[in-house]
Amino acid sequence: MPGLVIVGTQWGDEGKGKVTDLLAKDASAIVRFQGGNNAGHTIVHDGEEYKFHLIPSGILHEDKYCVIGNGVVVDPRVLLEEIEGLHKAGVSASNLRVSSNAHLIMPYHVLVDAAEELKLGKLSIGTTRRGIGPAYADKAYRIGIRVQDLLDEKILRKKIMAALEHKKKSLQELAVRRRKLHKEAEPDEEIQIDDRLDLHTITEQYLSYGHRLEPYIADTARLCWNELDAGNKVIFEGAQAALLDLDHGTYPFVTSSNPIAGAACVGAGVGPTDIGEVWGIVKAYSTRVGSGPFPTELFDEVGEHMSDRGHEFGTTTGRRRRCGWLDLVALRYAVRLNRLSHLAMTKLDVLSGLETIKVAVRYRSKEGALLEDFPYHQTILHNATPEYVDLPGFSEDITGCRSEEDLPPAAREYIAFISEFVGVPISLVGVGPGREEVVWVEDRG
Ligand code: IMP
Repeated sequence: MPGLVIVGTQWGDEGKGKVTDLLAKDASAIVRFQGGNNAGHTIVHDGEEYKFHLIPSGILHEDKYCVIGNGVVVDPRVLLEEIEGLHKAGVSASNLRVSSNAHLIMPYHVLVDAAEELKLGKLSIGTTRRGIGPAYADKAYRIGIRVQDLLDEKILRKKIMAALEHKKKSLQELAVRRRKLHKEAEPDEEIQIDDRLDLHTITEQYLSYGHRLEPYIADTARLCWNELDAGNKVIFEGAQAALLDLDHGTYPFVTSSNPIAGAACVGAGVGPTDIGEVWGIVKAYSTRVGSGPFPTELFDEVGEHMSDRGHEFGTTTGRRRRCGWLDLVALRYAVRLNRLSHLAMTKLDVLSGLETIKVAVRYRSKEGALLEDFPYHQTILHNATPEYVDLPGFSEDITGCRSEEDLPPAAREYIAFISEFVGVPISLVGVGPGREEVVWVEDRG
């Protein structure tokens, strides 16, 4: 079973890109299976910093296929910009393949996403406004447009026309509802029915995208089967994370796809028995962007320490991330949802300088009950107070550590405590942003 899945275990931004880059060394293909350009990963490679939203992190390995699977929603404008950016940096994108079955993000999806956010006002989810939710909604509603449609002008025009009819109606309704809600709309909040809803403009624009993307469009499920059947390692790279999962996360404050390991099969077109290992990425503390429950969130100088030292600003939107202690109740939930075989911990260096490090080991409900497991009812989670175990902090700069023995005893204790609590070995620890700034941990299990 040469398939290996990499997923986020918290609310995203765990540093999956770096771990994927490291584990990809002996893989023949790296495949993204869900999400879109709401994701963002930064990889530091040979001293150069690369930021991607859509293209899988594996693109820097020219000898491997780098695949955008059918489960991803693709904004072709963004994809072409990333390809161009790579060319400018002297990196070839000739190994890139895009599934013909992947759905496209259309200009009206972005428009609807922003309009929905305004409509919800204070209750807004805080989406990345990249059109992700509306694109997945159209896919389920069967009025989505797929990558393969870009190659057939007649079909493309017909499908865009059908989708536009539907969109115009719902955008008008939204505008009316919003005006009622806000009494009168702010001028800059006006919903513009502009050329993002014009059939001719969109069709011409998307045909030109199709022309440029044609060399990359492929049957990517078959590509995965060929590699797996040849015994080659294939990495399935998730975006976002377990607690943002549409089914299992803190709904409705979630993304519109399934970032958990099971979705790799659907989003790439492979079977569960193709998967041998599932790696979960956990940041040494917690962060969240956008709204929604976050039991261990900090509003003090420790939270600021994490935010400043960890440069916790969104790669996609630039928003400051909410920060807090590591939540082991939530992590254990993610371990089980994904049935993780390994954990990789990132950004341990950020905790250096804290006298005490806390980890949440259970919650207490509003009524005073002790909760060992992630609550199945969202209201309980909203009102839950975490109970912590205090672990000793460390003050050393650990960015130079390359083996377990180099790490201060308190850092080792932190790793051991987490690993034992959730029952999964921590096999890799990130001690700095660079590719080489990691410690591989021996499994003594
Ligand atoms: P959407 O995916 O743009 O629809 O946003 C839904 C929720 O998921 C919002 O709270 C976003 O902030 C969050 N989200 C989406 N992508 C990411 C990511 O890559 N990292 C962290 N949060 C994300």
